Amino acid sequence: MLQEKFKKIKQEIIDELQRTKTLEQLDDLQKKYFSRTAGELTKLVKEIKNVAEAERPKIGKIANEVKKEAVEMFERIKKNLETGKQSQDNSRIFDPTIPGKKEEAGRLHILTQMRREVEDVCVGMGFMIVDGPELESEWYNFEAVNVPAWHPARDMQDTFYIKKSRNQEIKKSTDQDNHKLTNLDTNLVLRTHTSNVQVRAMEKYGVPLRCIAPGRTYRNEATDARHEHTFHQVEGLMVDKNISIANFKAVFDAIVKAILGADFKTRIRPGYFPFVEPGFEVDLSCALCQGQGCRVCKHTSWVEFCGAGMVHPNVLKTGGVDPKKYSGFAFGFGLERLTMMRYGINDIRLFHSGDLRFLRQF
Ligand code: DAH
Repeated sequence: MLQEKFKKIKQEIIDELQRTKTLEQLDDLQKKYFSRTAGELTKLVKEIKNVAEAERPKIGKIANEVKKEAVEMFERIKKNLETGKQSQDNSRIFDPTIPGKKEEAGRLHILTQMRREVEDVCVGMGFMIVDGPELESEWYNFEAVNVPAWHPARDMQDTFYIKKSRNQEIKKSTDQDNHKLTNLDTNLVLRTHTSNVQVRAMEKYGVPLRCIAPGRTYRNEATDARHEHTFHQVEGLMVDKNISIANFKAVFDAIVKAILGADFKTRIRPGYFPFVEPGFEVDLSCALCQGQGCRVCKHTSWVEFCGAGMVHPNVLKTGGVDPKKYSGFAFGFGLERLTMMRYGINDIRLFHSGDLRFLRQF
C-alpha cells in the first residue's frame, strides 16, 4: 500500500513539475511536498514507522529513491527557470515507462443529435432557428397565445410558478441577456410549451416569417413511460400571404419523411388548441406494427404526434400582424416522442436518466 502511495506521489510531482512555469510556483510545490510539518512526501515518510518491521527496509529504500529523484528534479527545474531555459527542458523528466492516460471521448446526447437533424432539415426549407426563454412571463406563455387566466386549457398545462415578489430581481438579471422578459407585471412560469416563442418571433422579425423554435419545456405532472416534467418540443411557425393547410401538410410531411423515412404516413384530424383555428392533431403511422395494430398505437395503427393549426387571428394581432392580410400555420411536437418513434424507445424517462448503457447506444 505504502509502496503504491510512493509511486503515486512521484507521478504527481512529475506532473506538477511539468506544469511549473515560475520560481514562485516551484517554491509552492516545494512546500507542498517537502515542508517539515505538512509536506505530503514528508508525511508519507513518517508513515514508514507503522509498517511491519520486516517490510521497513524495503519501503525505506523506495522512499529514499523517490525522495532523491524528487529533489534532483526540483533542482534541475530550478536551475532551468533561473537561467530562463524553462519548460522545454522540463519535458525531459517524461518517464516513458509509465502507462499512458486514456482519454475518454464524449458524445452529443441523442436529443441534441435529433434537434440538430430537425434544424438542418428545416433550415434547408428556408426556416430560421429562433430561441426563447425557459423562464417565461405568464403573458407570453398563455395570454399572448390566446389562453386567458380563466381558460380551462390552463389546467391541461399546469407548470411551476415563480412568486411575484422575485420577478423584479429576475428582471434585473435577465434584462442584460438576449431574452428580455417583458410584461413582468404577470407571474413568471417555467414555459409549458415552445408556443411562447410565437408572439416573440412575430414581434422581433415581423412578417413574412418562417421559423422553428426548439427547446426545453416543463409540466407539473407525474412521470410515467410517456410523460416527463421536463421535456423538449419543436415549434414551427410560418406566416405569409395566402398560407393554407396545404402548406402545412407539405412542410410537415417533408420533416417527418426526412427524419423517420419515406415509409411514414401522416394523418390530420381536428383537434382543439386555443392558439389556432382550425386546429388539428397530427398522427403518424405506427412504426412498431406497420398498420397491424399493437399496444403502442392502441390497435389503431396511428400514434398521436403533434399539435398544429392555422394561427388564430388573435395571436396574429398580438404579434402585430394584420390577420386580414396574412395567415399562417403553427405546429408543436415533442422531440423525445420523435426520437422514441425513430429508435423504438419505450420509456421517455431514459433520456434524462443519465444511464450510460442507454446513452452510449447513440
Ligand atoms: N403547444 C401545444 C402543446 O404543447 C402544441 C401545439 C399545438 C403547438 C398546436 C402549436 C399548435 O403550434 O399550433 O400541447
